[in-house]
Amino acid sequence: MTFAAHVLTLYPGMFPGPLGTSLAGRGLGSAWTLTATNIRDYATDKHKSVDDTPAGGGAGMVLRADVLAAAIDGAPAELPRIAFTPRGKPLTQARVRELAAGPGVVLLCGRFEGFDERIFEARGIEEVSIGDFVLSGGEVAAMVLLDACVRLLPGVMGAPSSGDDESFETGLLEYPHYTRPVIWEGRTIPEVLRSGDHARIAAWRKSMAESDTRSRRPDLWERHEGVRVQPASGAR
Ligand code: ADE
Repeated sequence: MTFAAHVLTLYPGMFPGPLGTSLAGRGLGSAWTLTATNIRDYATDKHKSVDDTPAGGGAGMVLRADVLAAAIDGAPAELPRIAFTPRGKPLTQARVRELAAGPGVVLLCGRFEGFDERIFEARGIEEVSIGDFVLSGGEVAAMVLLDACVRLLPGVMGAPSSGDDESFETGLLEYPHYTRPVIWEGRTIPEVLRSGDHARIAAWRKSMAESDTRSRRPDLWERHEGVRVQPASGAR
């Protein structure tokens, strides 16, 4: 099955951009397809306007619900719809997995102050954020989501098992990696990784994943521990 990505944007020329190279680029046209549509094509007035001043006053401009609705209605109706906004639900690897397992996605990229709020409920659109910072538009966020999805598609990533241990798949950050030379600028690859003892290596990697998660991402660690201790605390 081919994953169909439909991007609605005021800057279709930004696509495929970086997604046209490397891993994602090699799969483009086979594992996945990309259609970038200009929202302005759906404007109806003679000035082709897509935005207007915010109700209640204030700075910036707001994308019009009627123009957005026409653009969305022009995309395949069976695909999940996502709009990028800093007010959205944080994107997670779990959501990326769900999307990548489906037929594709319609991605709505905003500019200016954002979208007319009425569009989300009216067209069943999920709001997604890629982090606690503000981008100048949703296009880069769309590329982030697509990159994360496309690398999971069958045949895109060389060795499928290389994804299993990585950050977030286990609920932990991934353990650190090393390669030759063994000594570089006075820094030596940990002895255990050169021991050939696969059980010791696995134990070291697990312990590093746990300690790094605890120190770098206490939020992830707490969730991981919560998930782990829950069955025991619920047992009688
Ligand atoms: N648009 C502007 N900022 C954003 C963010 N942090 N995430 C997703 N879309 C955005």
